[in-house]
Amino acid sequence: MVNVKILPDKTHASEEVAQILHDLIVEKPNAVIGVATGSTPEGAYERLAEKIKEHNTDVSQLRFFALDEYVGISWDHPESYHAVINRTVTVPLGVDPSQVNVPEAPDDAPVGSVESYDEKIAAAGGIDLQLLGIGRNGHIGFNEPGTPFDAPTHVGELTNITREDNSRFFEGGVDEVPPTAITQGIGTILKSRQAILMAFGEAKADAIRDSLATPPAEDRPGSSLQHHSNCVLYLDEAAAAKI
Ligand code: GLP
Repeated sequence: MVNVKILPDKTHASEEVAQILHDLIVEKPNAVIGVATGSTPEGAYERLAEKIKEHNTDVSQLRFFALDEYVGISWDHPESYHAVINRTVTVPLGVDPSQVNVPEAPDDAPVGSVESYDEKIAAAGGIDLQLLGIGRNGHIGFNEPGTPFDAPTHVGELTNITREDNSRFFEGGVDEVPPTAITQGIGTILKSRQAILMAFGEAKADAIRDSLATPPAEDRPGSSLQHHSNCVLYLDEAAAAKI
C-alpha cells in the first residue's frame, strides 16, 4: 500500500521524515534503518543529526544497512557509497562504523544474486524503516527497469540514463561511473516493515506518476512499492505535479 504526502518543499518534507526517524529511534533504540544515498535524503539526515544532538538521543544500538554500492570503485573514492554513507550518516549521527553496513561485491563480480547481504539484514531482525530515493527512470536503490519484484540483493548493470545522471558526482564524467552496482533487491526492499520514499523537483515527476500508475509493472521499479505493506511517498509539489 502506498500513501502520498505532498509538502510545500524539500525542507518541510525533510523535517517530517527526520521526525519520524527520531521518533522510531526513541521508541526502539536498537532499530534497523535502511539508508539511501543521493542528494534527496541529505536534508533529512542533517535534521536527524540535529535532533539527536538536541535530545542527546542514544544511538549506540542502532544498526544501518545501505541500499547499494558501485562495483569496481575504491571505498576511498569520495563518491563510493561507503564514503557517502560515512559522510552523510555515520559521522553526523555519531554512530560507530561497526553499526553501519554497506553492500560489497568484488571488482570482477558477475551480474547475479548476492544473498549474504539479505541474510545479514535478516540476522539483524529485518529493516524497521527503509529510506528510498528514486531515479529519473524510476529506479529504486540500483534496481533498474526490468528488475523482478522478488529480486534479492544482487549485482546488476546500470542503464545509460542512471550513469549520466550520476556522472555529476564524478570529475571524469560518465566514463568514470562504474557500469555495474550491487543493490538491495526489490524483494529485499519489500520486506522492510516500513518504507519512506522521498522525491523532490520536477525531474522526478514522471517517475512518481509511473510509480503510482496501476497495475504495478517490472518496467517501472517504483511501482513495486504498491506491493509494500506500509510505504509513504514524501513529495514536494514539483515531484507530485503529474499525479
Ligand atoms: C542513485 C541511488 C539511488 C537514488 C538515486 C537518486 O542512483 N542509487 O538510491 O535514489 O540516485 O538520486 P538523487 O537523490 O540524487 O536524485
